[in-house]
Amino acid sequence: MVHRNNTLLHGGDYNPDQWLAYPEILSDDLKYMKQTRANAFSVGIFAWAALEPREGEFTFGWLDKILDDIYGIGGRVILATPSGARPAWLSQKYPEVNRTDHRRQKMLHGGRHNHCFSSPVYREKVGIINRKLAERYKDHPALFMWHISNEYSGECHCLLCQDNFRRWLREKYGTIDALNAAYWAAFWSHTFNDFDQLESPTDIGEGWIHGLNLDWKRFVTHQTLDFYRHEIKDIRVITPDVPVTNNFMADFPNVAPFTGFDYAPFAREIDVVSWDAYPPWHNDYESTAHLASKLAFLNDYFRALKDAPFYILESTPSMVNWQPVNRAKRPGMHKLSTVACLAHGADAIMYFQWRKSRGSTEKLHGAVIDHDNSPDNRVFCDVAEVGQMLENLSEIADSRTHAQVAVLFDTESHWALDNAEGFSRQSKKYSQTVHTHHKAFWQANVPVDVITPDKCADLTRYKIVVVPMLYLMREKTMRQLQTFTQNGGTLVMTYISALADENDLMYLDEGAPILRDTFGIRITETDTLYPSQRNGVCYNGKEYEALDYCAIIQPTNDANVEILSTYTSDFYANSPAITVRYTDAANKKGAAYFIAARTGEDFLQDFYNQLIKENQITQPSIQTPPGVSVQTRHGNNATYHFVMNYTEEAQIITLANKMPDLISGIELNEGEIKLQPYDVMVLSNR
Ligand code: GLA
Ligand code: ZN
Repeated sequence: MVHRNNTLLHGGDYNPDQWLAYPEILSDDLKYMKQTRANAFSVGIFAWAALEPREGEFTFGWLDKILDDIYGIGGRVILATPSGARPAWLSQKYPEVNRTDHRRQKMLHGGRHNHCFSSPVYREKVGIINRKLAERYKDHPALFMWHISNEYSGECHCLLCQDNFRRWLREKYGTIDALNAAYWAAFWSHTFNDFDQLESPTDIGEGWIHGLNLDWKRFVTHQTLDFYRHEIKDIRVITPDVPVTNNFMADFPNVAPFTGFDYAPFAREIDVVSWDAYPPWHNDYESTAHLASKLAFLNDYFRALKDAPFYILESTPSMVNWQPVNRAKRPGMHKLSTVACLAHGADAIMYFQWRKSRGSTEKLHGAVIDHDNSPDNRVFCDVAEVGQMLENLSEIADSRTHAQVAVLFDTESHWALDNAEGFSRQSKKYSQTVHTHHKAFWQANVPVDVITPDKCADLTRYKIVVVPMLYLMREKTMRQLQTFTQNGGTLVMTYISALADENDLMYLDEGAPILRDTFGIRITETDTLYPSQRNGVCYNGKEYEALDYCAIIQPTNDANVEILSTYTSDFYANSPAITVRYTDAANKKGAAYFIAARTGEDFLQDFYNQLIKENQITQPSIQTPPGVSVQTRHGNNATYHFVMNYTEEAQIITLANKMPDLISGIELNEGEIKLQPYDVMVLSNR
């Protein structure tokens, strides 16, 4: 339904509402759009004041022309609802729409993404403008998709939101006693008599009940989703065939999807997952290949949310303006970072933004058209080259990733572990750890789905499932993972997993059932090391460093448990560090590995390479040196191998058979091929 004419989308955020007084600029835009082979534009994201300059007074004429003009050059429009920022008249007349922060301070008008999600007036006004847009453009041939709001985020702590939170708690728990039990409220005399005594967590009041903190995050997810449902309700009726997307976010330094709310339930309600990808290329703290592995991880998360191609709805053709240092993409990087996303399942490469603003906060943010309004510069040429490349690659649209390996990432557990006072503040590193496990497969050119717990209901397509540091683990997830091993799957879990239940209450007695039933172990202690301290683990005759966390574990009296590795030092020297328990020991099937210590990447690489071999995981028949990555997508008639050189040097790869490169159109012979720095190829195997 989404892919018309089998094309990859190329384009970006287009904000003509900033340029209405410059008609010649708007006509230049059309010329440049054609030159860059741009075919899709997100329009109207922050255009509310241009669409409704005064309450109830609508001015759609300029937008009519934009849609007509874009259609006229063969383009399509991803039409936005403008709720991300509002006109001044709205806040002035109805101050309730302004957000209240966690210190209960009412915000003033200004900025963006600062509305109250509960406010009936805001919902009413958003409903009106959204309906007007849908009714006006429902039959416009350029209308391709809806861009609902922009990067939903934040929370409101006003009285209306407090009421909604209490209602949500009441529905969840039924009785205040049930809530008190779930919150371990006897601690510090925090027992509640009534739901009316509850407030959202804050540092000027209650912030130490972990169950409450977790529920608030869940409520914010619910509240944001509820607002989204309100935004989309009438649009779905008026334009039932137009798909809907919403641009998600991620944090590169921490290698994590946005943590303000949980994207997993959100993804179920939209038609296409999109995200805004801003990797800080050429920084001075990591290699290009390491940053590329982070981008790969995030792409694999966003693709797996719907198990379908996704859109890069925003990226920069050059630089951003909000990093501490905003570096330009070096020659070749724009093409490489585009292929980096296509390789993991992107079907759209879009920019923020088409034309650089003349004033205000984003006037120095990279864009396709700079202040010189000229195609005669490096960034424009890079974009035009990518436009041509995307046309040459159009047959890959809607091709799929077939992952046989899944790595589990859970936002709820991330919240709970971050909130847990203990261990080490600096070295908990949940998302970084999940990424490090993922990276071992990425280096082996093995596609991975980064899945959320709701995907555990059916794991049959995977041969290996990896569960790093899943601190909060529901019993349902445990049963699903156990079923996976009973069906012969290989499961890997680590230290700081399955410690707390869904209320963030610690498991008692022998710990969570999965430890005994699936892994055949008991965790007796978890030692936290200072950053410079080390222990070691011996594995397959080699010694590796253990750092940050060393869990001390005891195998149960289960004959199926084998000790694969032991610690090298400290009072737990020679005690087990890595174990495996086979569900079917006779046939060595259904392996459940427990890795009790944090290790370096060297161990994970060796460990997972062995599992890849033992489980006969498919790898492309292309030999690559470190820093060169191959990812694979499957079309109806061909398999596509995306080859990417993430190093600043030339590299040699070896092909097992001859294949055409769809980017250059050259047929490559088997044997050695030289890749220039940042070089890319898309090899098609029919
Ligand atoms: C976000 C927003 C855009 C823009 C970019 C700048 O992704 O959605 O409107 O501000 O950041 O990088
Ligand atoms: Zn509010």
